[in-house]
Amino acid sequence: MNINQIKPHGGKLINRILDQEEKQKVLEQIPGMTNISISLDRAKELENIASGLFSPLEGFMGEDDYLNVLELKRLSNGLPWTIPIVLDISGEDAGRISTGEDVVLDHHGVAVAILHIEEIYGFDTEIHSQNVFGTNDATHPGVALTNDMNELLLGGTIDLINEIETPYSDYALKPAQTRALFREKGWNTIAGFQTRNVPHLGHEYVQKSALTITDGLFINPVIGKKKSGDFRDDVILDSYAALLDNYFPHDRAAMSIFQTEMRYAGPREAIFHAIVRKNYGCTHFIVGRDHAGVGDYYHPFAAHEIFNEFDDLDIQPIFFRSFFYCKKCTSIASDKTCPHSEKEIVNFSGTKMRDLLLSGQVPPPDLMREEVAQAILEYDNPFVE
Ligand code: ADX
Repeated sequence: MNINQIKPHGGKLINRILDQEEKQKVLEQIPGMTNISISLDRAKELENIASGLFSPLEGFMGEDDYLNVLELKRLSNGLPWTIPIVLDISGEDAGRISTGEDVVLDHHGVAVAILHIEEIYGFDTEIHSQNVFGTNDATHPGVALTNDMNELLLGGTIDLINEIETPYSDYALKPAQTRALFREKGWNTIAGFQTRNVPHLGHEYVQKSALTITDGLFINPVIGKKKSGDFRDDVILDSYAALLDNYFPHDRAAMSIFQTEMRYAGPREAIFHAIVRKNYGCTHFIVGRDHAGVGDYYHPFAAHEIFNEFDDLDIQPIFFRSFFYCKKCTSIASDKTCPHSEKEIVNFSGTKMRDLLLSGQVPPPDLMREEVAQAILEYDNPFVE
């Protein structure tokens, strides 16, 4: 797989961003349209659809696509897709609109997009969660969010009018821009790296192992709603800036943000993550231990196995087993490369690093780079409340 072969998912990069002239026309029609208020997360999803990051989607899913995704992990046209991209609305809002109508999706007074309503349909949160997360346990953060959804879903194509500004605009590249950037850098193969965390040495090892077989590395942190106890967005970006500045050749790595919420859907989210990185133009996608997992809901390598169900993803996954520090090897190793016993092994325990950082201490250098730890310690509270 190389840069010339990596087509957007479905073959074409979707563009649903109105140009100036179209926008002007739509703005004139807006006063006569019904307004539906949406959250920041939904506004960001609109931007992702409009920029082609969610190609081939051109809007929020209708019922056919939604049910196919739940049951078969595919859109109704057969293309792989594992996470529903839907817009939930209250019965009260639904009472104000009807199928066939154009409505304005509004975030705090900003007209974000026009939605051409094709369908208004109901759904079952239990069936949704059981399929997407493999559980109905309300302590699972994805299930909790699903339980909080409004009772109806709106399906239909969208046209983006305005973006909601992000404080990280320097890092907010669209797929057309990342595709151009990879070419500019002369990379023929690019490994995409998903993360919701600050980097520890295990992450760096995964990234550098991938970079030994690809020309470039694309660090692509998820910026958006996360569960309490996860690292804050600004902390993740500052800590990665410290890592990239100090430990990566500048012409081999690039960073940009993926503005979406974490679902914690483990294997299904790994496929979704791979599709998005394919749309950014990556040829390869890194999947390590317990990718997009939470607690012990998923087997650590379930996110590897699910790729066997798809021979038509057209992005190359690179799988890594669990990396740890081995005192006997005096290096980072995995169960594939290291024969030593449990007592020699130091795992990259998120909890341990979190506790050290919370008490203002720098984790040991075989777990985290000092520059990375210092960037995190600049913050009084680096965690999501
Ligand atoms: S995730 O929710 O975004 O997957 P995280 O940011 O911790 O969480 O992980 C980013 C990527 O690194 C994922 O592909 C994950 O599987 C991988 N990863 C994290 N820690 C390890 C480790 N110790 N060994 C192997 N892979 C790892």
